[in-house]
Amino acid sequence: MKHAVVTGSSRGIGLELCRQLHAAGWKVTALCRHTTPALEALGVPLREGIDVTDEAALRQLGTGLEARSIDLLINNAGILDNVSLESLDIESCRRQFEVNALGPLRVTQALLPALVEGGKVALVTSRMGSIGDNTSGGSYGYRMSKAALNAAGKSLAHDLAGRRISVAILHPGYVRTDMTGHHGLINVEEAAAGLLQRIDGLSPENSGTFWHSNGEVLPW
Ligand SMILES: NC(=O)c1ccc[n+]([C@@H]2O[C@H](COP(=O)([O-])OP(=O)(O)OC[C@H]3O[C@@H](n4cnc5c(N)ncnc54)[C@H](OP(=O)(O)O)[C@@H]3O)[C@@H](O)[C@H]2O)c1
Repeated sequence: MKHAVVTGSSRGIGLELCRQLHAAGWKVTALCRHTTPALEALGVPLREGIDVTDEAALRQLGTGLEARSIDLLINNAGILDNVSLESLDIESCRRQFEVNALGPLRVTQALLPALVEGGKVALVTSRMGSIGDNTSGGSYGYRMSKAALNAAGKSLAHDLAGRRISVAILHPGYVRTDMTGHHGLINVEEAAAGLLQRIDGLSPENSGTFWHSNGEVLPW
């Protein structure tokens, strides 16, 4: 049975990714800060207390996992705080960098020994991190942190190629979750299904690509 590990699984897209992977026959380890009734209801193994900014917790998680036991790591956890130029909240920008950019890098590094040769790493980023696609400005901390995550994803694709580990840099779409105040163009079911399709098609040949969950390749 293939083994997937998902961060930020308590709700939203992460929860739905766990649900769909479980339904498709994967062993799923759901990582979260705090569990929720919806996550409990899935009946998958879960690990609480996994804050992606907590290096000690991630180190402990990494050493507790069996070597070469993870086929797929999905770095989904993220936060959005709308920071404008007029009310520039630097502390909020810093926090978004910690969670959105450094978090996935920390998690990936901590879990690397547990990833199988030929495994996959998915980074749930945002097209708001695309500089080429930025037509409206604003959202300083979020845009900057996701652009930094995209840069990390490209480096990871190069650095992990030797172990044939492929890296997908994925925008889920504009999805109705807590993050968007339940506004959006698609629901979590469609977003998670699209993300899993992209992950399914991920290979060493297309590693390091920035995709929309609908399959469109996005500009950096
Ligand atoms: N929704 C969209 O339209 C959209 C668009 C583009 C990209 N994305 C990206 O998709 C991902 C999932 O977003 P979502 O819409 O599902 O948002 P969400 O409903 O707000 O869920 C966010 C998840 O991330 C977790 N999280 C937040 N900070 C964390 C931390 N420090 N350590 C560990 N987990 C943490 C949350 O856990 P708690 O319950 O503990 O807070 C929650 O499980 C994010 O990376 C987001 O940037 C979403």
